This record gives sequence, C-alpha cells and structure tokens, in this order.
Amino acid sequence: MERKIRIIIVDDSEQTRENIHAIFGYEESIEIIGEGQNGLEAVALARELRPDVILMDINMPEMDGIKATQTITEEGFDGSVIIMSIQGEKEYIKKAMSAGARDYVIKPFGVNELIEGIRRVYQLDQAKKKKIANPISGAKLQSKVISVFSTKGGVGKTTVATNLAVAIATTSKKKVALLDLDLQFGDVAISLNLYVKNTITELVKDLINVEHENDMIEEYMLTHYSGVKVLAAPTKPENAEYVNSEHIKKIIGILKSRFEYIIIDTAQGFDDTVITALDDSDTILYVSTLDLPSIKNTKNGLEVMKTLNYSSEKVRVVVNKSNESFGIKHLDFKAALNVDLWAIIPDDLASVAISVNNGHPLVSHRRSSVVSKRIFKLAQTIVQGEKPKQNIFKIG
Ligand SMILES: Nc1ncnc2c1ncn2[C@@H]1O[C@H](COP(=O)(O)OP(=O)(O)OP(=O)(O)O)[C@@H](O)[C@H]1O
Ligand SMILES: [Mg+2]
Repeated sequence: MERKIRIIIVDDSEQTRENIHAIFGYEESIEIIGEGQNGLEAVALARELRPDVILMDINMPEMDGIKATQTITEEGFDGSVIIMSIQGEKEYIKKAMSAGARDYVIKPFGVNELIEGIRRVYQLDQAKKKKIANPISGAKLQSKVISVFSTKGGVGKTTVATNLAVAIATTSKKKVALLDLDLQFGDVAISLNLYVKNTITELVKDLINVEHENDMIEEYMLTHYSGVKVLAAPTKPENAEYVNSEHIKKIIGILKSRFEYIIIDTAQGFDDTVITALDDSDTILYVSTLDLPSIKNTKNGLEVMKTLNYSSEKVRVVVNKSNESFGIKHLDFKAALNVDLWAIIPDDLASVAISVNNGHPLVSHRRSSVVSKRIFKLAQTIVQGEKPKQNIFKIG
C-alpha cells in the first residue's frame, strides 16, 4: 500500500479542527499527525514533524496563517501549505499564495474538495521531488502541438480536445497542456470541472516575467486530476480582446519548453489568434460532422488551409457525432471532400452529455464507450506518430 499522506491542521477554531477530523475519519490515505492553534505552533510543528501537507487557517492569534506560511516556506519546507479561508478573504488568499501556499479551500468545504486538494498537492510535490532527484539533463523537449479546429460551432471541438488531452496524459504519462483558445466562450475548464483560479488573462498581464522564467507559466494553469494542465479562457467574454496573436505565439513557445503535448481547443473559424495557433501546430484535427452544412463548411475551410500552405499531413479530418443512418455515409463524405478520414467518433449523446454534466471526462469515467475507445486510438496514433492503418477507426 502506498504510504499515507501526513497532514497537520492549524486553526484556532476547535470546531473546524473537529470537522476535519470527522472528514478524514474514513479516509485511509490521509493521516492527521498534528494539530496547532496558531501560526507559531504551525512553524514549530512543520519543523518537528515534516508533514506532507499543512492545512492552515488565515486569521489566528499570535501569528496569522500568512506569516506562518511565509516562515515555513523560507525555512525550506518541502511539503505544501493549503490555506483554509472564508468567503470574502480574497486579498488574504492572494497574499497567502504569494507567501508560498500551494492551494486554498473556501470554508465550508466539501469532503471531496478537501481530500482531492490534499492529494493533488501531495502528488505534485512527489513529482517535483522525483524530478529534482532525476533531472532531465537539459534535454530540449520534443513537443507536439495539436489544434482541434472547425469552421462550424457545436461539432465537438471541446469534447475532442479535452478527452484527447486526458487520454494522452493518462496513457503516455507525458506532460500535457490544454490551451483554451475559444477566448470569448471557452468552456474547457467547466467541462473538466476545474475551479478557475487563473486564466490566460492573468498570464498575459504577467507575460514579460513568465518569458524569463518559463516554469512560472504553470502557476497560471489549472491542474486536472489526470495530470493535464489547463490554460483557461478568460472568465469574461470582454476580456478576450486583451489577448492578441503576439501573445498566443509567445504562450505556445513557452508551453513548448515545458510540455510534450500541447492540445489547443479553438473557437470556430479563422480569427487571428486561431490562425497563429494553427501556424504553430504540428497537427490540426479538423472536426466535422456528417451533415451537409458541416461538409460544405469543411470543404471551404480545407481550401483556406491549402492557401495557408498547410500540408495534407498536417491537416487531419475527424468526423464526430457520426451516424450513417441519417443519410450521409462516410464514403460520401470522403468523396465530397477528397480527404481521408483520420478518425470517426460515433454519435453517443447519452455518454457525452453525462460525462460533461458530471464533470468527468468520458475517457476517464466511461472508458469502454465507443467514443472513448476512438479517442484513445486517436491519442495512441498521435503519441506513436504513426498514420492510422486503414479501417483502424471503423465503427463496431
Ligand atoms: N460524439 C458525440 N456524440 C454526441 N454528442 C456529442 C458528441 N461530441 C460532442 N457532443 C455534444 O455536442 C455538443 C457540442 O460539443 P462541443 O461543445 O464539444 O462542441 P464545440 O465544437 O466545442 O462547440 P463550440 O463551437 O460551441 O465551441 C455538446 O452538447 C456535446 O455534448
Ligand atoms: Mg468548444
């Protein structure tokens, strides 16, 4: 069995400490090894017990949680501090995060939220320690950039992009970034049920610094439990206008220095930022559906891609929501567009809708659905860098 995650709780409210005890009563992977009532005690406990995770309140007598976090961090603590805060302490949370806290939870928190938060920071810490022990000897990453594109809305770009990213991360154990370039209406974070702390808006504000210190980009990304790191779209549509193609070029460059796979979900059609991403992509997955308007759009879009000098190796057509019983067959589609179909993903609203509404990607919670299988196959093809054999995606 894996070793338990050792935590300490620091809060002046006995009630809160008791609640946390109750939460972890049935949680076998976590062990409470100490408790404190103020920041001074937190510092002493951190030195003495070297826990993996410290759950730290903000407002406490003697020394507050921010000062304690700062002291503990400065002393070289190699675990993580998670701040427990109440609604309305946003400014303090920011301070605590810059003092070195890794995450925060808002009281009253749910059981899963807390447990997942602890596991997440713990796993990241373990990964970090491993990396320090086995540094990648300055080797440059071989990154692949894959954009998921279409000239039509609602064809499944986000579904494909999110599930593909999760599929690659879970099967290849490589570092995967997912960039939401649907700047106005991006819904990657919501589809993956991620709490949005930062978005591309905040990153763009700090881009000059991040360009100097590339690994800082991860501070602006959200971590999905699959390991995928998401750079979310702005939370307000009007903030989209602060992000331009120059920014996108730089951001993709930085991501390439940190991640092996960069999956980009796009807004429909060719706007400047999307074209920048497409230019920088190794592969474009052009998503279409088996209906006339979509076929017409795809035909036009592929023409545009030719004028942009994208090779047919680079642009790969993916048919999503495929159901031949509505009149158009795959062969008709191939003939009309004169392209090979790289993947065919069946129409399965029940599975896709349930997965989105539950906030769990289909490829992690319904692995046996045909949609998942096709996406795993797509992931495998991308990771192995091979052309799919004929019929590889044939339904059935
Ligand atoms: N294979 C599928 N089978 C059935 N329904 C699907 C499938 N893929 C996606 N959908 C559904 O189609 C709708 C649109 O999907 P999605 O949001 O992924 O498309 P999109 O191209 O990103 O849309 P937008 O242009 O709005 O960004 C969603 O309701 C989704 O659940
Ligand atoms: Mg979308």
